[in-house]
Amino acid sequence: MQHQIAPSLLAADFGNLAGEVAVINQSDADWLHLDIMDGVFVPNISFGIPVIEAVKKTATKPLDVHLMMVQPERYIEAFKKAGADLLNVHYEASPHLHRTIESIHQHGMKAGVTLNPHTPVSVLEEIITEVDLVLIMSVNPGFGGQKFIPGSLGKIQKLKDLIMKRNSKAWIEVDGGVDQNNARELVQAGADILVAGSYVFKAPDPQEAIRKIKYF
Ligand code: DX5
Ligand code: ZN
Repeated sequence: MQHQIAPSLLAADFGNLAGEVAVINQSDADWLHLDIMDGVFVPNISFGIPVIEAVKKTATKPLDVHLMMVQPERYIEAFKKAGADLLNVHYEASPHLHRTIESIHQHGMKAGVTLNPHTPVSVLEEIITEVDLVLIMSVNPGFGGQKFIPGSLGKIQKLKDLIMKRNSKAWIEVDGGVDQNNARELVQAGADILVAGSYVFKAPDPQEAIRKIKYF
């Protein structure tokens, strides 16, 4: 399939959120990526449920919500009500991952599991056929604008192998330090969805920036 682009709103101008969402609505982006940080799981606090509700009022792209928080299972219903279409929970924050994935599905959303840079792909062996997506963190979560960790490429390939071996339909999403210099090799390695924050929103023309990492 043609790979998809999910701009991360974390790098947008929060003083002009509606305007920034409109730019993405009118772009060739496929999803909108929303980063929820709780100040506990990651050393930063971003935004929460009211902001998702506000974005949902005008966004025309599906909302891909990335939960960088402890005990994400406590908020599944709240994120569904706020307008999430896909919920990504961290493997490292989910001791009962199977149950959490099941609950996300029961709430009518797609379910993703996210891996920190140090977490090997092999931990997904028993869950890979249950998830719709695996999100590979290619930076340490918590901040936008960080440098891409090169080892992430090998992880994408290992994940692709696991998906094929288990006959899973899971998509591979990559998040952190994605730009026009690495987009092509990420897709060649097996990525289906590219998240890009600063590369898109700090560009002079975000819509052009999106086209550059989507069509090549
Ligand atoms: C980092 C977030 C990312 C972030 C990516 O913890 O999960 O989604 O917004 O930002 P860039 O693309 O600037 O690395
Ligand atoms: Zn993210």
